[in-house]
Amino acid sequence: MGLIEEIERRRTFAVISHPDAGKTTLTEKLLLFGGAIHIAGAVKSNKIKKTATSDWMEIEKQRGISVATSVMGFDYNGYKINILDTPGHQDFAEDTFRTLTAVDSVIIVVDVAKGVEAQTRKLMNVCRMRNTPVIVFVNKLDRLGNDPFDLLDEIESELNIKVRPLSWPINQGDRFKGVYNIFQHKLDLYTPNKQVVTESVAFDDVNSPELESYIGEEDASKLREDLELVEGVYPEFDVERYLAGEVAPVFFGSALNNFGVKELLDCFVQIAPSPRPVQTQERLVKPEEEAFSGFVFKIHANMDPNHRSCIAFVKVCSGKFERNVNYKHVRHNKMLKFSSPTAFMAQKKETVDEAFPGDIVGLPDNGGTFKIGDTLTGGEVMHFKGLPSFSPEMFKYIENDDPMKTKQLNKGIEQLMDEGVAQLFTNQFNGRKIIGTVGQLQFEVIQYRLLHEYNAQCRWEPIGLYKACWIESDDAEALEMFKKRKYQYMAVDKDGRDVFLADSRYILDMAQSDFPKIRFHFSSEF
Ligand code: G4P
Repeated sequence: MGLIEEIERRRTFAVISHPDAGKTTLTEKLLLFGGAIHIAGAVKSNKIKKTATSDWMEIEKQRGISVATSVMGFDYNGYKINILDTPGHQDFAEDTFRTLTAVDSVIIVVDVAKGVEAQTRKLMNVCRMRNTPVIVFVNKLDRLGNDPFDLLDEIESELNIKVRPLSWPINQGDRFKGVYNIFQHKLDLYTPNKQVVTESVAFDDVNSPELESYIGEEDASKLREDLELVEGVYPEFDVERYLAGEVAPVFFGSALNNFGVKELLDCFVQIAPSPRPVQTQERLVKPEEEAFSGFVFKIHANMDPNHRSCIAFVKVCSGKFERNVNYKHVRHNKMLKFSSPTAFMAQKKETVDEAFPGDIVGLPDNGGTFKIGDTLTGGEVMHFKGLPSFSPEMFKYIENDDPMKTKQLNKGIEQLMDEGVAQLFTNQFNGRKIIGTVGQLQFEVIQYRLLHEYNAQCRWEPIGLYKACWIESDDAEALEMFKKRKYQYMAVDKDGRDVFLADSRYILDMAQSDFPKIRFHFSSEF
């Protein structure tokens, strides 16, 4: 198979949702269809959310397993599917944001009863930054939930995207009878606990009296009414608008009962994009270019104290990646070759000889070779964009608790930051180091890992901060003036960029209105 064919058959995506909407269940069912796993219950390893905040050791144990489910690749009807897993716990949201930079589309799971929830909104905002195409799967139709029209309105307004139902539910909860598959003109019937679509009937004309024989009079007339309204309210499905990230097709089903999942998958492989061109600082890179290029979007460290090792996850963006061929590590300006790159098929990791755009390869890294955002190429100097850090929400001073181990501590902090565990800001006024995170858990993770992997001890001290934001200005004088006036609140991030530490919302608002020539950014890429 040539490069073009390999690219066209690849679908690299993530399933995202608010915890408990059914992401794990849906992922598992997709894998079952791909023959990647054979029993239900195999994808529990990344389910870390239920341990909540206290027991993060348990979480880390599971994280060790979760490297296997970081990427789940399988073949389905001639397509090569790569599902990128994202952590369930919202304290690891930053990890999820970065993973979303490596996918070509997403499936969002929404619970029919709970509707759009907080985490879904946040994740959608990240998708919107790259106009990532989105398919919505409304889950748990076997339970009573919202009216589908109300839910679609909610999705449109809360997620700020147009929707287009491609299936339509027939009743809900105990009386759920299945869906009318608008995409394939079929009637898919549901029987509770059967774990499959029990009957699928080609059904072009819902006005045919035959409909009654399948779903009864009441539901038949309701379905006809609903479908008429659907066709009246929502414009015809337009694949181009979906690919542009403007319209999200919507499917209804029940992941737990494996209902509507195959239909979703069949539509997905048809309409979802294969790897798309990617922007670098220098130029747009097309997947079909002959020269290999890719970027590191995730680094996974193992927790073995005797053997510090990481896997850098590289998304192949163009050309063919090959084992034992020299590639340029652009940041280090060095040629490197990799003797044991791994690919992720189903739940196994195996050494691969080649990989194509859309694929993820794991590169073992024992010495801090990689950091998030690094670019590998066939030789050209370019830098992939689109891996921003987001303004963190929690801050603490990190202090050395063992003066004999300063070097170890500094090295540990640097490497953990390169891995993207949290963000480091150095206060310019007093030189103290501040760690910013999106959740409490990361502080515990950092402290534990510094001790066990670097033999360094840290302690946390409180700091009252509201937000850290990156600042810039076209007017060098105005920037200097700002930095002088706010000198106690100025810091630099790990790349030496100016960061303003606002201790309250009021202070931030004031700074923004008092210094109109300064631009304040809440993500590191601007
Ligand atoms: P998540 O990854 O998005 O956090 O959700 P997950 O798949 O773990 O699902 C959350 C809960 O919702 C699970 O129940 C799961 O069985 C249930 N669920 C998923 N899909 C459906 C569905 O279509 N219908 C119904 N009724 N339930 C569904 P749990 O009791 O919390 O966990 P478990 O003990 O079953 O694993």
